[in-house]
Amino acid sequence: MVALVAQDGRTWTVNVADEDVKIKGLGVFNPAQMLEEHSVGGLVVLAGKELTILPAGLAELRRGMLRRAQTIGDKDAGILVARLGIGRDDTVLEAGLGSAGLGLHITRALGPSGHHITVEPREEHAKVGLDNLNRAAVAWPDGPHHTHISGLAQDVAEDVKSIAPQGLDAVALDMADHTPSIAALAPLLRAGGRLACYCPVTSQLERAWEACEAAGLAVDWAGEIMERPWSRASRGGVRPANGPFGHTAFLLIAQRRSA
Ligand SMILES: C[S@@+](CC[C@H](N)C(=O)[O-])C[C@H]1O[C@@H](n2cnc3c(N)ncnc32)[C@H](O)[C@@H]1O
Repeated sequence: MVALVAQDGRTWTVNVADEDVKIKGLGVFNPAQMLEEHSVGGLVVLAGKELTILPAGLAELRRGMLRRAQTIGDKDAGILVARLGIGRDDTVLEAGLGSAGLGLHITRALGPSGHHITVEPREEHAKVGLDNLNRAAVAWPDGPHHTHISGLAQDVAEDVKSIAPQGLDAVALDMADHTPSIAALAPLLRAGGRLACYCPVTSQLERAWEACEAAGLAVDWAGEIMERPWSRASRGGVRPANGPFGHTAFLLIAQRRSA
């Protein structure tokens, strides 16, 4: 897997197979032949675009990802992985999978002995999310074991118990109503394990907070991450960029503190 990056930052990720592929915006080409003629770090011209060939890292897979459902961006995904404490041997449940914007960060953080369990009820969303995770598995062959469950998160507790009998190190939830999933999945967390909710509006945050406490979890941290990009000023120097200072979501992290 390599990334083809245009000068304006647009990114396409391409599986290096020895066959013609048709990629929207780039036309038809043979990726293996392209890499025989051009090295990683070099330039290639496709469909009139000058593209740099780069390894497909996390940022490249994110920028070139297929999209359907609204995705969690880098700003929030990075802090969710950090505050959930996700590391290489962990078992992590993620629902809903959606387009796997967050899923790409989780799979990157888990090592080969980690287990990424994804849950999604909508087949059309799962198809996009699983395609993105499949690209990640090709780009990073030492990634975690992955199990996908089709269904609602609140209905999968028995399945999850059978595939992860040791309990879950972390649960990440991104859906309109987190409360039934919190009630069903909080008991599966190991002592010390954490659960996160991504809440675009305050009413979701409040309901998730109450549901976590009702499920015996302690709220570890709740809040919003502000991002303020900088750019070069036209008269020299660097300064905060002009542009919107937007909102994405409130994040809640809760912990199971008792066995
Ligand atoms: C906003 S999308 C998730 C996006 C994903 N976090 C990402 O970064 O790409 C929300 C997803 O949750 C799914 N969903 C809704 N209710 C659910 C539930 N009870 N259990 C599991 N998934 C659910 C929806 O079908 C949708 O695909």
